[in-house]
Amino acid sequence: MLASLPDYPWDQMVPYATRARSHADGIVDLSIGSPVDVTPELIRRALAEATDAHAYPQTAGTPQLQRAIVDWYERRRGVSGLTEKNVLPTIGSKELVALLPFMLGIGEGDTIVHPRAAYPTYAIGAAIAGADALASDDPAEWPASTRLIWLNSPGNPDGRVLTVDELRAAVRRARELDAVIVSDECYAELGWDGPWATEPIPSILDPRVIEGSRHNVLAIYSLSKQSNLAGYRAAFAAGCSTLLARLLTVRKHAGLMLPAPLQHAMVTALGDDVHVAEQKERYRARRNVLLPALLDAGFRIDNSEAGLYLWATEGVDAWTSIDRLADLGILAGPGPFYGDFFPKHVRFSLTATDERIAAAADRLRAVSVENI
Ligand SMILES: Cc1ncc(COP(=O)(O)O)c(C=O)c1O
Repeated sequence: MLASLPDYPWDQMVPYATRARSHADGIVDLSIGSPVDVTPELIRRALAEATDAHAYPQTAGTPQLQRAIVDWYERRRGVSGLTEKNVLPTIGSKELVALLPFMLGIGEGDTIVHPRAAYPTYAIGAAIAGADALASDDPAEWPASTRLIWLNSPGNPDGRVLTVDELRAAVRRARELDAVIVSDECYAELGWDGPWATEPIPSILDPRVIEGSRHNVLAIYSLSKQSNLAGYRAAFAAGCSTLLARLLTVRKHAGLMLPAPLQHAMVTALGDDVHVAEQKERYRARRNVLLPALLDAGFRIDNSEAGLYLWATEGVDAWTSIDRLADLGILAGPGPFYGDFFPKHVRFSLTATDERIAAAADRLRAVSVENI
């Protein structure tokens, strides 16, 4: 299995990062989406309050955490009727994405579907389980061998949002195939343009999507980005109680439990909407600086109506763009890291300080003037 895993792709960026770092005014790293703003004080205080953790933590989550997740779905995601049986905390969401196929007993001969422009860990999870990965956004293409379907809305890298109709069509197809369907919704609080400027981004657990049954349907969410908690590893799954009970059993046996102080901190994070709104405004301001500068520099922005990234192309090979950007001291993510269909795209993350984003915009504008 280990032999079938690819090399870690970001290692290929080392020479570009070295060149970008040699820029006179320093690197602007817009490659990996790792938060740069501080963890809100109230969450850090909650963590500090809970450092007496002599007993093993509950794999299912404390009753307070289960309640906080249920309440959060109702308040922020328009999803009511969940109970403690419909939620499960995870140690960040990446471990769940990578291990879910294995935990569900998916393996050789089975197909796992993921988006065409995709967070690479969906395919890694298929490789770990020995299953085939298929990149497809069209439910009609999903084959009879499909056992698991990943949706990602808003998408990484492309910021695409799936509407209620699109989510419902995907769930209906999953039911025909008797497959599990999971929507990774970790950027759901970051809507910017089009309908998402005013309407909440729909969850797969929305009653208009599931049409009365959560069977084989899960949503996953992470506090990494909305609450600057990437270093804490705080996430959860919600939905089908039968599936979650199976996962809980595996996780108990494997010792995959969220540390008790983090469970306490998550309750506080989930109960406070103010810091989430503040963080969203930081990202909005950065997006409003970077997006027009990319347009001025000759990039086209595709989708990106929500989420943490700008998905852009200047119509040339992605590595040519990455090379030119490195000369400007800017590091971005090449489209080929997100599948085989976007050889000319690059991904710009909004996770840099205001000062660094302004520096990137100035450098992009300077080249656009030179080009005239
Ligand atoms: C689409 C998507 N899913 C999951 C994750 C994992 O997030 P975490 O493990 O921090 O919860 C990321 C991280 O960037 C992501 O972009």
